[in-house]
Amino acid sequence: MPNWEPLVEPLVEGAFAIADDLLPETLLHNLHQHILTQHSVGNLRPAGIQRDGHLHTQIRRDTIQWIESTTECQTEQSLLNLIDDLRLYLNRTCYTTLGSIEIQMAHYDRGSFYKPHRDQFQGCFDRQFTWILYLNPEWTEGDGGKLKLYLQSESVEIEPQWGRVVLFRSNIVHEVLPTSAPRISVSGWLRNRSD
Ligand code: OGA
Ligand code: NI
Repeated sequence: MPNWEPLVEPLVEGAFAIADDLLPETLLHNLHQHILTQHSVGNLRPAGIQRDGHLHTQIRRDTIQWIESTTECQTEQSLLNLIDDLRLYLNRTCYTTLGSIEIQMAHYDRGSFYKPHRDQFQGCFDRQFTWILYLNPEWTEGDGGKLKLYLQSESVEIEPQWGRVVLFRSNIVHEVLPTSAPRISVSGWLRNRSD
C-alpha cells in the first residue's frame, strides 16, 4: 500500500492535498484500461440522474459507474482495498471514525462539466473526505477540465493529469470546468457511517 502521509498531512491543518507519484504505475494502467473498456461497452451511465428520475444535464454531463463492494473484478477490488487502506490510515493518524467508502469511475466527454457542488447530500450521506484520481495520459494544459476548489478566501484550479491524486474535505464547494478533451477520473468518498 502507498505511503499516505503526503496526502493526509496537509489535511491536518488545511482543506486539500495533491500528490502526483503516490500510486504504482501498474495499478494506474490497469484502472485506465478498465475504465476505457467499461466506457466503450456502454457500462457507464449519465451521472446527472436525480432521485426524481430526471436527467439534470445542466448540472453534470459525465457518465459514471459505481464500484460494488462485491465485485469480482480484480482491478476494482484493488481499488476498493486501496481506498479502504486510506480510510484506516486516516482513522489511525487523524482520529477520524470513518466507517465506509464509496467509489465511482467517471468519464467526461468533450464539452462535459460538473457545476459547483458539495459532495454531501443532507440526510442521505455522511461523506467526510473526497478522494479523486486522474487517469489522463496525454493531458495538456489548455484542455480545460480542471478541478476548481472554492476555499475560504481563494480558489485553486487543479489539472487532471495522469496519476494525480487529490484529497479534500467533502464540504468544500468544487466544480469540474468544461473539458475540451475526454477526461477520466475515479472518485472515492470516505464516510462516517457504515449504512
Ligand atoms: C465528483 C467530483 C471532481 C473531479 O465526482 O463529485 O466533484 O475532478 N469530481 O473529477
Ligand atoms: Ni464532487
